[in-house]
Amino acid sequence: MNEPAHLHWGADALQQTLEPLLPGLTVEVVASLDSTNTRLLERARAGAHAPCLLVAEQQTRGRGRLGRGWASNALDSLTFSLALPLAPADWSGLSLAVGLALAEALDPVAAGAAPRIGLKWPNDLWLIDGPGAGRKLGGVLIETVSVGAQRWCVIGVGLNVRPVAVEGLATACLQELQPQALPPQALVAVALPLVRALQAFEPLGFAPLVPAYARRDLLLGQPVSTGAGGASGGMAGCVEDGIADGVDGRGALRLRRVDGNVSSIVSGEVSVRLRRPAASGAA
Ligand code: BTN
Repeated sequence: MNEPAHLHWGADALQQTLEPLLPGLTVEVVASLDSTNTRLLERARAGAHAPCLLVAEQQTRGRGRLGRGWASNALDSLTFSLALPLAPADWSGLSLAVGLALAEALDPVAAGAAPRIGLKWPNDLWLIDGPGAGRKLGGVLIETVSVGAQRWCVIGVGLNVRPVAVEGLATACLQELQPQALPPQALVAVALPLVRALQAFEPLGFAPLVPAYARRDLLLGQPVSTGAGGASGGMAGCVEDGIADGVDGRGALRLRRVDGNVSSIVSGEVSVRLRRPAASGAA
């Protein structure tokens, strides 16, 4: 038996909002579990047949991309996963579409205005501090599993709502943008746009989203290093340096190399970091 949640999440209202789009959806909120992604993957493998939105006020074994962990504090972070069957014509760019939907929901901007929430390829949400500079605000972990003829997709979202200290990483939190924000309000803001984005992605894929992604692309025009991602999160086996040149219609990062050629870096295979300019002159 799970310990009851501490915050008021409005799970019933959320369920009623989302159920018309996702028939049979359940919304569950628990005080603590290992990882919402792990739980929903287990349930999908065991034959779950209805979509589920699972929220944990605290995760004891949160997982991030590339085998990393995901640190969050109880009640300071929004950590949830959505499991649903998905059948897109092309899966490429799904994680970018999810990151974009979250950024737009949390930080809607008028045409021509500068966004405060940017995207660091492929799908990190960063609070923008200046050109090419920012701090990580949230991340997305998408995992899929085949269940009979269907492919179930588990979309995990972690968002720092109140300050969360992570060793070795400068983090940001949503309260820097919205001082009153709490995890339940952040969930209400993102849940419906997320479901709509997934349902638009199924027939259309990522290509129509390229211009919107470009407006929030933190790496665009910046010098970057790409490297194979490792479990340590290190840049194991540095592959290429270049200037980030946007993303293509399948969500691949375009990397313009020193010789002028452009490589396409495919989502999920590499990690990308802003390269610090070499120090010049005396400090
Ligand atoms: C990343 O930036 O590396 C992705 C982080 C994804 C974290 C979320 S929190 C909810 C869900 N459950 C997990 O264990 N991970 C995802």
